[in-house]
Parts: sequence; structure tokens; C-alpha cells
Amino acid sequence: MAVNTQNTNLRISAGTDKQFPSDQMPQIALSGRSNVGKSSLINTLLGRKSLARVSSAPGKTITINFYDVDKKLFLVDLPGYGYAKRRASDKAVWSSLTDRFFTANRNIDRLSLVVQLVDSRARITNDDAMMLDYLEQSGLPYVVVVTKVDKLNKTERAEALEEISSSPYTQGVDIIPFSSHTGEGKQELWKYILSKAEL
Ligand code: GTP
Ligand code: MG
Repeated sequence: MAVNTQNTNLRISAGTDKQFPSDQMPQIALSGRSNVGKSSLINTLLGRKSLARVSSAPGKTITINFYDVDKKLFLVDLPGYGYAKRRASDKAVWSSLTDRFFTANRNIDRLSLVVQLVDSRARITNDDAMMLDYLEQSGLPYVVVVTKVDKLNKTERAEALEEISSSPYTQGVDIIPFSSHTGEGKQELWKYILSKAEL
């Protein structure tokens, strides 16, 4: 691997688009509903226990967290969507900040990949479908990662992967099964990320 994942730090927890870093490094964004496992996936990719905060109370984070990995790329932890109990005012902050990430990001051309996470048990929710539709329309490169596959037995797993891959929203999109608990998918996703970031 070309990057030293040990050499990672949280560059900034951005609450406004003005705080998005201006560094000319490839950005890899993690998108998905609240509680889908974005922060856990970042910790798994980096081999760290708790660099990215894993929420016991979901939907708390409404900042965009930029992790500088070895000065070679940013892993960008987007706030989770679809958290039903979130206050309406917080939902508005979520959508405007995330929207700004895609529309007011000076380094949008550095956005090498959006990793769209889908929970293997919840399958594709309406919010996921909207996001996948948005990604398809945007022309941005993206991949679907199916999280928490360790929670399923063999039959359930096959059913979940079949349902997700046959959805109209994932046609022509690569799908990677993933578990932060077992590490399944970690190497495959790293390969995918490094290739998109041209590292
Ligand atoms: P928000 O920051 O609220 O948007 O959530 P998130 O998408 O960052 O999810 P987070 O990583 O905080 O994980 C949410 C919960 O799911 C935690 O209790 C994790 O321990 C659990 N979890 C995450 N990944 C996995 C996984 O691969 N397997 C299992 N079994 N649990 C997981
Ligand atoms: Mg999180």
C-alpha cells in the first residue's frame, strides 16, 4: 500500500463550507444514512479503534470531518442522513452542509470517489435511493459498500446482496460487502480507493 495509514489526523471538523480544506489532495467521501457504519468503516480502513467517533446516539454529527491520511488523501466523513428523531432545524443543517460539500467544494474535481454505504439489513431505503439517484445524475465516481454483513447468516447475506445488486438504483455500480467487525472488504475497498485516487 502506497499510504501510511498510521500517519492520519483529523484535519478539520467543518461546520461550514468555508472550513473545507483547500489542500490539493484527492478526497474520498463516505455517504450513508445515520448509523450505517461510516465512522466505523473509517476506523477499520485506518486500523484505528476510535479515531472517527462511533456514535452510540445516532445522528449527532452535523459536521463534515476531513481525515488527512498520510498527506496523500482525505477521507471525508459526511453527516448521516435519514435520522428520524433529528430536529427539523438539524435536518436543515445536514442537508445544506452536505449539499455545499457537493456544490461549493472548491476541490470538487479532487473528489475521486463517493463511497455510498447501505446497511445489509435495512437494504436500500428511500433516502438511499435519493442519494444514489443524485450520485448517478452528478456523474461523480461512486461505489456501494454493503455494511454490517457480519450480522447476517449465509442465506440472509445472499438474499441481501441479491436484492441490493438487482435494485434499479445500483445498476452498473460496483458493490463491496463490508464488515468493520471482521474486516471483510477492507483490502478490496482500499484497492478501489487507491486506484480511483491514482495513488
Ligand atoms: P452517524 O455518525 O450517526 O451518521 O453514524 P455512522 O454511519 O458513522 O455509524 P457508526 O460507525 O457510528 O456505527 C453505528 C453503530 O453500528 C455502532 O454501534 C457500531 O458499533 C455499529 N457498527 C458499525 N459497523 C458495524 C459492522 O460492520 N458490524 C456490526 N455488527 N456493527 C457495526
Ligand atoms: Mg459517524
